[in-house]
Amino acid sequence: MDKLVIRGGNPLLGTVRVSGAKNAALPAMAAAILTDEPIILENIPQVRDIETTRKLLAEMGAEVELGYGRAHHRTTISCRNLASPEASYELVKTMRASTLVLGPLVARCGRARVSLPGGCAIGARPIDLHIKGLERLGAEITQEHGYVEARAERLRGAEIVFDKITVTGTEDLLMAATLAEGETVMQNCAREPEVTDLADLLNKMGARIEGAGSPTIRVQGVSKLHGARHRIIPDRIEAATFILAGALTGGDLNVAGCDPNHLGALLQKLREVGVKTAHTAESVRVIGDGELRAADVMTEEYPGFPTDVQAQYMALATQAEGTSVITENIFENRFMHALELVRMGANIRIEGSRAVVRGKTPLSAAAVLASDLRASASLVLAALVADGETIIDRVYHIDRGYEHIEEKLRGVGAQIRRIGEMLPKRAAGGR
Ligand code: UD1
Repeated sequence: MDKLVIRGGNPLLGTVRVSGAKNAALPAMAAAILTDEPIILENIPQVRDIETTRKLLAEMGAEVELGYGRAHHRTTISCRNLASPEASYELVKTMRASTLVLGPLVARCGRARVSLPGGCAIGARPIDLHIKGLERLGAEITQEHGYVEARAERLRGAEIVFDKITVTGTEDLLMAATLAEGETVMQNCAREPEVTDLADLLNKMGARIEGAGSPTIRVQGVSKLHGARHRIIPDRIEAATFILAGALTGGDLNVAGCDPNHLGALLQKLREVGVKTAHTAESVRVIGDGELRAADVMTEEYPGFPTDVQAQYMALATQAEGTSVITENIFENRFMHALELVRMGANIRIEGSRAVVRGKTPLSAAAVLASDLRASASLVLAALVADGETIIDRVYHIDRGYEHIEEKLRGVGAQIRRIGEMLPKRAAGGR
């Protein structure tokens, strides 16, 4: 198993480039199921979750070409021959977003069998809202042996009101509704940029969707969708991670290839913290002078402060003067990183959904364990300012969603290297 070894103390200087958004690429790949013509997706990130989705689609009989080059990261997916509309437990257990195939499969094939995802490190994360929505669209649902099975000759448009805002739930039902008969009106939808990006792709495929990015989305069902070419939006969570790294290390970092419009809540928070930022249409420059002030954060659905940046913000809060209260409103158990940060010298008390961080305390290197994707990023950030050499174990979590993080950080001055068993495979270009 790979480990990251990081020696702290270097400010990050220079330019780091952001990859395509994993969370936009995953539903876009699932959308290819909706048509028998090829879908070409550009700006695909080279991360493990994309590889998992490739396997998932290939197991169903899709042809998936995935190519990573200096200039292009591209996939071409053809779902002409979908032999088995199934997502196995083996794959779903490694990536919950596999459930995104449920809606498209039932819409295109009239049948889908998808493993229920089970427990998760950050909370219960059920998929009841996906299932309820599909039932509203006329699917017959059964659950047996850990699988959910959905059947419908043709889905019918309906009104769907989400009890709770769900990102992949909105995406799953949006895809299903494109091929339903008649109009679907979805209320209380997620407004994340990844939802809007998916709707843009679906409209290029011939869907008739209005209102994506707002709480109400209207879909006029069509009988067939066609092939399309689409460029995935930049990864706002990766961008936020680098911006926080620049601020935390007192660096001068240009985070290039991002969309500052997607980073509003973070940039506003950083102003409160006392970090200077400047942006163009496609980049954010962050200038940290090492003086950070505590500021409270509350995670919310977009456009609020993202739960996917909460862990990384906590690393910053350990180095801010004063007390920061961080409230996690989206997931019930998303503070695993706090305990590891405490092992590095942070003063953090967890009170239910709140973490009270008292700063600033010096951090010292330790052996730490990554528990999930964003928790791993938080530990990388803490290690960048810790005294000594931190060893982060279980970095396969970080490889799920960050493209070559050690190379990108090394390029802007971090002392970071990877050690572990996967080295021969990587040398052969396997990652
Ligand atoms: C997506 C993101 C993830 C991010 C999360 C919240 C992808 C691939 N993943 O995950 O990175 O952290 O949004 O921004 O895009 N819920 C239910 N029933 C459901 C669905 C969700 O109760 O059927 C609950 C969840 O347990 C959670 C909340 O709703 O408490 C929000 O979850 P949701 O938006 O669905 O997260 P994901 O789409 O899984």
